[in-house]
Amino acid sequence: MHNPYDDPAVAALYDLLNPWAACDDFYLDLVMAAPTALDVGCGTGLLLRTARAHGHTGHLLGLDPADAMLDIARAHTTDVTWTRGDLTTHTWDGAFDLVTMTGHAFQELHTDHDIVHALTAMRTALTPTGLIAFETRNITARPWENWTPDHPWTGTLPDGTPLADVNDAHPITPQGLVTFTSTTTSPSWDAPLTTHSTLRFLTPAHLDTLLAAAGLKTVQRHGNWDRTPLTPTSPEVITLARPT
Ligand SMILES: C[S@@+](CC[C@H](N)C(=O)[O-])C[C@H]1O[C@@H](n2cnc3c(N)ncnc32)[C@H](O)[C@@H]1O
Repeated sequence: MHNPYDDPAVAALYDLLNPWAACDDFYLDLVMAAPTALDVGCGTGLLLRTARAHGHTGHLLGLDPADAMLDIARAHTTDVTWTRGDLTTHTWDGAFDLVTMTGHAFQELHTDHDIVHALTAMRTALTPTGLIAFETRNITARPWENWTPDHPWTGTLPDGTPLADVNDAHPITPQGLVTFTSTTTSPSWDAPLTTHSTLRFLTPAHLDTLLAAAGLKTVQRHGNWDRTPLTPTSPEVITLARPT
């Protein structure tokens, strides 16, 4: 499957367009409390390298299929283990107190089969009392309906470069897949940067059946990073789960 994050131009912009935010504070608290942590879909590694910089002394492993993203993580620090791949190429047995999947990376898993396989591998990677933490965008809030050309995003890079980003999302499929094109332009660039992505959306009830199939049980669920309860309009479905 095509991965837009394996484009060096996309990876180079990632941290500039996704600076530290409330979601990172939420996950950093979990990582700092865990003696060992695996971050699946770690991207440029901001979470784990920040944990190391904050004094985490245990084993930290970032896993991602995109070399372009990992190159940025490696350039920041070699004090975290960065591994190219995903949960179909790598497994660990009882090695981690915490497994995270942040930045909506979980939505890159497109089928029930992919999700149960990944959750089972995450459970296998945990110690018996370990914790899994991840989030998906909330399907009932229908966020993709705003990923349209009439909702452009404009911003400025730290060096002053102006950017505009326009998404063009297709309607959700019966399988819960939303495919969209993202076109980023800047007057400083010769050509636009275009990416094509597909994300899976699923209901919390369906997610819980897939967690159960993987031998996991939800122990906390939040609708936003301030830990407010999930409602139909919450932006996020944040799940903390443990082995059953
Ligand atoms: C939106 S980025 C999030 C990166 C990072 N977790 C963060 O919050 O900044 C999504 C990441 O998921 C990775 N990814 C794509 N498919 C994946 C898969 N099947 N398993 C794990 N990671 C995947 C991409 O390469 C990309 O780095």
